[in-house]
Amino acid sequence: MKVDHNAMSVLFPLQLFCAARNPPRSLSKSALKERPFCSGTRARKASRSPRSSAQAVQTPALVSDMPTKSTPLDKFPKSNVQSRQKVLPASEKFEKQYADYSTGYASVPGLTYERSEWITDIEGKIPKELEGTLLRNGPAMYIRGEGADRFEKSYLDGDGMVTSVALKDGKAYFRNKFVRTEDFEKEEALGKYTEPSIFTAKDPRKPAFIWRLFNDILAGNLNRKQNGAYNVLNWGGNLVAVDYKKPYELDPDTLDTVGHAASPLSSVMHTSHYRTVDEPDGSGRRCVAFLNEVDWRSETTGAVFYEFDEAGNEVSRRAYDYPASYVHDLIVTDNYYILFDCPIKIDFPAVFTKYIFEKSCLSELICEDTDRRPLFRLFPRRGDSREVITIEADYWCYAYHHVNGFEDSDGKIIFDTCTWDKFTLYFTDICSPNGQENFPRMKLSRFILDVDNGKATHHCLSDLPCELPITSWDYTGKPYRHMYLSSSVGTNEAGVNGPMQALTKVTLPTVDALGDAQEVEWIPGESKFAMEPFFVARKGAIDEDDGWVVALVHDANYEKSDFGGRGTEMVIIDAKKFEEGPVARIRLPVYIPFGVHGSWSTRYVAGPPKKAELAAMQAQEIDSSLGTRTNFLVDNAAVQSVQPPIEVTKFATAAALVGLFLTACQF
Ligand SMILES: [Fe+2]
Repeated sequence: MKVDHNAMSVLFPLQLFCAARNPPRSLSKSALKERPFCSGTRARKASRSPRSSAQAVQTPALVSDMPTKSTPLDKFPKSNVQSRQKVLPASEKFEKQYADYSTGYASVPGLTYERSEWITDIEGKIPKELEGTLLRNGPAMYIRGEGADRFEKSYLDGDGMVTSVALKDGKAYFRNKFVRTEDFEKEEALGKYTEPSIFTAKDPRKPAFIWRLFNDILAGNLNRKQNGAYNVLNWGGNLVAVDYKKPYELDPDTLDTVGHAASPLSSVMHTSHYRTVDEPDGSGRRCVAFLNEVDWRSETTGAVFYEFDEAGNEVSRRAYDYPASYVHDLIVTDNYYILFDCPIKIDFPAVFTKYIFEKSCLSELICEDTDRRPLFRLFPRRGDSREVITIEADYWCYAYHHVNGFEDSDGKIIFDTCTWDKFTLYFTDICSPNGQENFPRMKLSRFILDVDNGKATHHCLSDLPCELPITSWDYTGKPYRHMYLSSSVGTNEAGVNGPMQALTKVTLPTVDALGDAQEVEWIPGESKFAMEPFFVARKGAIDEDDGWVVALVHDANYEKSDFGGRGTEMVIIDAKKFEEGPVARIRLPVYIPFGVHGSWSTRYVAGPPKKAELAAMQAQEIDSSLGTRTNFLVDNAAVQSVQPPIEVTKFATAAALVGLFLTACQF
C-alpha cells in the first residue's frame, strides 16, 4: 500500500494501521536499491561528481540500523536560545491582534466571488520595469450546503482558489478563480460536500463511524478529496495548481482548469515545494520538484526528484528509497537534493479513540518523536551513484520551510531553515494561534553538515519568530546573504509572541556567518498582516538584493470592505530600501484569504482577456438576471488584440468554463 507523501500528506497514520495488520517485511538491500530511470528521461552528465567520502553513511539496509533512540534526551539539546525579541508594553496583550489575524481565514461565497478586472486603487507607483505575475493559491471556500446539508470543513480542506496580479507597464490586472477539481465539480453540482478530507474531524459521509472503521481502516481506502489548494507555479509555459496528488494544469491566460497531464509539469505527482536552480555549466535554469511516496508496509519512502528545463521538458528523473519519514520541503545544491527528516510518530490509540468517532482528523494523529534524531538525507543529483548520505543533527527541532543551502569551499554543506521548537501540525496551528503554545515559536537556523563525520551542527541565525522564507532564486544552491520572511512583531511581558504580522529582511554579515544577522522589519500597519513574501530580482541586477519583495497583506479593518471589514493589498518593496516600506500598495478588488503558498512568475500571465477569452464569453448567452454583474474592463492601450469592453455575468462565465473544463479534461 502506498500513499503520496506531499506537503500536506498526513494520511499515513491509517496506513500504519494497515501495515500493522500486514507486518512489514524486513528490508533487504535489494529492497532499498535504486529504482530505474523511467523511459523518456535522461540524466545530464555531472559537471563534477558528488563528493566521495569514506565515512559517508550508506542507505541503511535495515530499518533497525537507523540511529533511532541513540541519544538520551538530556544530552540532546532541544532549544538553547532564549528569545531576544523586543518586549512590548504591558498593555500589548495581543488579543485584538490575534482576533484581527484570525479574520483572514474566512470562507468566501464560491463561484460568484470570481473577478477579472484592472486594479485602479493604487497607492504609490508600480515600478515600470517590474513585469511578471504574483500567483497565490489557498483554500478559500470551506462551507457548503444549507439546512441538514450544511457542512463546514477545516480551513485547509477548503476549495482552492488561485489569485493572480499581473504587472506590466506600471499597471496591475487581477483575477481569482477556483480550481475545478473533479470533486469540486461534483460537489458544486450537488450543492454540498460529499468527500472526506485530510484536516477535518467531521465527515460528510454518513454514517461516519461505519465509513471510517470499515472503509478507511479495515479496507485501507484512504482516498481524500483533491482541492487543488496548496501552491501555483508557472514554469516553462505551464501553469499548474498543486495539492497532494497530481497537479492541475491551468490556462495561463484565464486561470481556467485544464486538468492533469497537459504538460510534463502536470503529468507527474509532486509536492507543492520546488526550487529553481541554475546549472553550473551555464546551460540554463532548472525547476526541481520532488515526490515522497511512503510505503508503510515496507517502511520505506520512495523519493523521486524531477528536473524541468526552461522549456518545460522533463530532463532528469532520479528515484531513491529510504526509511519511511515525513518531509515537507527540499534544498538543492549543485550536487545534491537534500531533505530534512524531522522525527514524528503516530498517536496510534487515537485512531480508535478519536478518528473513528470524528473527534480528530487524519492529520491530528501525528505527534513529535523526541527519541529520534533529526536527519539530513543527501541524494546525488548527478552521476551514477545512488548512495544516500545520512547526517545526524545535534539539535531537536521540526522544520517545514527551508531558506537555501550550498556547498562551501571546505566541503561542508550549509543548510538554512526555519525551525520550530516542537512539532505541530503547521496549518491547524496557525489557524488558531495564541502566540505561546500555538504559533509562532520559530527561529531562523543554520546547520553545518559535515559529510566526512556524518554530523550536523546547529546555529541560531536569528531568534525572531519567522516562517515562509524566500531568497533570490538567482542564488539557489550558492553562497548568499539576504533572505526575506514573514515574522512576528514582538513579545509581551508575559512572554506571549505577537502574530505573524511583519515582513523582515535578514542579512548575514558574511556568507558563512553563524549568527549576528541584521534584521530590518516592515510592519504593514494596525490590523494588517503580511503573507508569504517573494523576491523578484531586477533585470541585470549585480547585487543579490537588487530587486523587489512582493507580498499580499491581509487587512482586518478595511473601511471600504464589503466582506466584514476584510480586505487585501499587494505590496511592492524595494529590497535595497526595505526600511522605507512599499513603493506601491495595490488594493485588490476582493478579500483574499491567507492561503498557503504561491510564486512569482517572470512571465506576464493571466492578464486582461485576449481574443479567445472574449470570444468565448461573447458566445455564451448572457442572462443578466443571474448573479451579480462584473466588469471585464479591457485596456486597449495595453492589449492590442482585445475587443471593446463588455459585461458578462460571472454565472454565465462560470458555466462556459465548466463546459470547456469538462471537454478538455482527460482524467
Ligand atoms: Fe509548505
